Amino acid sequence: FRPDRLGGEESGPLYLRLQSLIRAGIAEGRLRTNDALPAERELATQLGVSRVTVRKALRGLVDEGVLRQRHGSGTYVGRPAERIRQPLSRLTSFTEDMTASGHVPGTRWLDRSAGPATAEEATLLGIAPGDAVTRLTRLRLVDGDPVAIERAIVPATAIPDPAKVGASLYDALAGAGMQPVRAVQRLAAVSLGESEARLLEAAPGSAAVAIERIAYLPDGSVVECTRSHYRGDACDFVAELSLSP
Ligand code: GLP
Repeated sequence: FRPDRLGGEESGPLYLRLQSLIRAGIAEGRLRTNDALPAERELATQLGVSRVTVRKALRGLVDEGVLRQRHGSGTYVGRPAERIRQPLSRLTSFTEDMTASGHVPGTRWLDRSAGPATAEEATLLGIAPGDAVTRLTRLRLVDGDPVAIERAIVPATAIPDPAKVGASLYDALAGAGMQPVRAVQRLAAVSLGESEARLLEAAPGSAAVAIERIAYLPDGSVVECTRSHYRGDACDFVAELSLSP
């Protein structure tokens, strides 16, 4: 795809003309699903427009689902991968859910640290303020695409050394003999703030699902409190319902 002009005969804002050019490329088969577009800088030079114009045009088409963008890698034709399914009626981990549905789960660490519990953390975990907690903040990926930001806090009695947590928190908990057996989970609709949107490669303000899971050990103590934001366009949450006996 090598556009060399913006359709000089057309009028209207440059970014809209660039969008038409890309749409026409797709309609005429010169651009196919998963094709990479030239870099922003290259497009701007070829067309003699500013990078701001190129960015605005691409952003609009990403919001419409015509294109998708991945940080550091570029802009591609087509929507993000199919939606993933998260069961709501079983106590499973992200890694298990994604693997069971044939996807490859991934994790990028944003924070992995230990420290004294704040008053809020202590209330959530049912411990005393100042008791040690482990904080695990991760970007969760599915087949390489970011779908969720998860902020977990765990009492240090369960995970004393954050560096020991690998790809799966639940594997680490099971390894420590601290596997949760029950959880309460809440879902709510939210919109993404700037920095979260950047991490999730979504438009600021776009829809997301906030999930809070508080998970318990057999003795009733809290072993995990996780607050997550899932991209609204990435997930279906599925529960099986039955009539009460
Ligand atoms: C889900 C839950 C989280 C839990 C996570 C564990 O995403 N919403 O509360 O912490 O699974 O997943 P993993 O074991 O892959 O880290």
